[in-house]
Amino acid sequence: QHVTQGGLVAFPTETVYGLGADASQQSAVLKVFATKGRPLDHPLIVHLGDKNWVKDWAQSIPKAAWVLMEKFWPGPLTLVLPKQNWVPDWISAKEPNIALRMPEHPLALALLKNYGKALVGPSANRYGCISPTSAQAVHAEFPHAEIDLILDGGDCEIGIESTIVYVNENYIQILRPGMLSAEMLYEASQLKILNEDNTTLKAPGKCKKHYAPERPLKILSEIEIQHFLNLNSSQLLNKICILSLNPNFSSAQNNIILQTMPHSPKLYAKNLYKQLRAADAKNPDLILLESPPTDAPWQAIWNRILRANND
Ligand code: TXA
Ligand code: MG
Repeated sequence: QHVTQGGLVAFPTETVYGLGADASQQSAVLKVFATKGRPLDHPLIVHLGDKNWVKDWAQSIPKAAWVLMEKFWPGPLTLVLPKQNWVPDWISAKEPNIALRMPEHPLALALLKNYGKALVGPSANRYGCISPTSAQAVHAEFPHAEIDLILDGGDCEIGIESTIVYVNENYIQILRPGMLSAEMLYEASQLKILNEDNTTLKAPGKCKKHYAPERPLKILSEIEIQHFLNLNSSQLLNKICILSLNPNFSSAQNNIILQTMPHSPKLYAKNLYKQLRAADAKNPDLILLESPPTDAPWQAIWNRILRANND
């Protein structure tokens, strides 16, 4: 009912919570931009309840796109495809392409299938801030009834946003890395995989500061954290939150709040935004994030934490 009437409904997905509105109602979609404080030239992802709905939005669908849909939809993969002529600029800005995704969370799918039409669904946070991974976090972003309804589907399983790819007959170009990895895309398609650094297409990563907490954040190795704490200046700070990978990390300083982060990339991703939010909420002078490993399974996590690095 809220969606029919042009309202905003936050919904859970397996990645992060989305801010949903009927993609066919211009005023509802513009309300999404206004509520997030998002510039109009940042196109939205259109969320679909069925693979066949892609034909309504995409002008041409390469074979590889069908392969990826078969393998990964519903799931944490957004496909960027040439858009049909009717698709308005108030959804996809002036891009020639449209971003499409079929989410896996049962509540999201139930909402989409029952409504029977596509919803726009950017992450349900204020522009530039951390994506919410729980209904409580959505409420914390929009505490003043800016949105009509929040569907509570518990904590998001994946915890960071979907992998976004542009796909054609010859290659797959990653525009935003996610937990669905380049390796998995290659295995499914056998196509050449290009990474996000060499694209002229509109890509989310182009904005350096994004996904950022309110409080200053530094990314340091464990040794650098120890050095930092040994400096006199660190003792002058009232409160420092440390997100450490070492469960035995300890410090005699009493201005420190310690949180241990998981060692597996999967659990780390699931907890990252939740812990950044929790750290922010304690209003520290500084958040110190211990740098995680740099090998392939951590690639999407690094993509997010480098943009959270607002120091
Ligand atoms: O996991 C997700 O993808 C979440 C959940 C709610 O589905 N949604 C999400 O939406 O992260 P949003 O709007 O926060 O991020 C979507 C990104 C934007 O940075 C936008 O620039 C990019 O997708 N995008 C949208 N349409 C595009 C297009 N036609 N071409 C290239 N990039 C596009
Ligand atoms: Mg977002």
